[in-house]
Amino acid sequence: INIILLGPPGAGKGTQARKLVEERGMVQLSTGDMLRAARTSGTEMGKKVAEVMDRGQLVTDDIVIGLIREKLAEGGKGFIFDGFPRTLAQADALGELLDETGMGLDTVIEMRVDDEALVRRITGRFTCGNCGEVYHDDTKPTAKEGVCDVCGSTDLQRRADDNEDSLRTRLLEYYKKTSPLIGYYYAKGDLTSVNGLAEIDSVASQINAALDGN
Ligand code: AP5
Ligand code: ZN
Repeated sequence: INIILLGPPGAGKGTQARKLVEERGMVQLSTGDMLRAARTSGTEMGKKVAEVMDRGQLVTDDIVIGLIREKLAEGGKGFIFDGFPRTLAQADALGELLDETGMGLDTVIEMRVDDEALVRRITGRFTCGNCGEVYHDDTKPTAKEGVCDVCGSTDLQRRADDNEDSLRTRLLEYYKKTSPLIGYYYAKGDLTSVNGLAEIDSVASQINAALDGN
């Protein structure tokens, strides 16, 4: 099964993708994670995108399409596209890449969350720098303060773009450039919408129901 998780910043795409990896052995392809990895390793591309990401703007289509093309060429099956596509041009490119590799797209999961909840989620988020587990100050704290539940690392981090200014830009970018994809996939008959405001496990059940109905 290949799926897209579509939703605004803080909708819970990363959280649900990690559950699907764990429970179904799917492969998570997060363009956000790939871009952050490029920054950390200090590649030319990483340097180029750093400022754009911190401001909350979208990176250019050719860069992210290139990243996805490389990953798909490595092969595998059961991809979760997390945070990609984010523009109509990226959606068209993904369609072509899937055609070229003989893969299909099973469903696009739209995660619906209202804007107030997004702000709360983003401003309370922190992640484990070692294993990538995603936490929240109020809704998903670590059992022991300052220590990751999953791997025991104390390297808990907050993202540079998780501040109010960047978040406003990220939301604007989402509504201007990414939300048209909802109509695009609806018209293709590929869209399933889930209530992203529900608890994490309940969102996961909704997604699993959508996948098993396929
Ligand atoms: P990216 O890393 O993709 O960030 P994003 O889309 O803004 O999404 P987030 O990671 O912020 O949120 P999420 O939906 O994964 O939520 P999470 O599960 O963490 O992109 C970052 C930047 O990279 C972009 O701004 C852009 O510059 C660039 N970029 C990336 N892809 C690109 C592309 N294709 N094209 C161009 N540029 C690109 O959850 C958030 C919080 O809520 C957590 O604390 C979590 O614990 C909590 N939470 C989750 N679910 C629930 C729930 N059900 N109930 C209560 N709390 C919950
Ligand atoms: Zn960890």
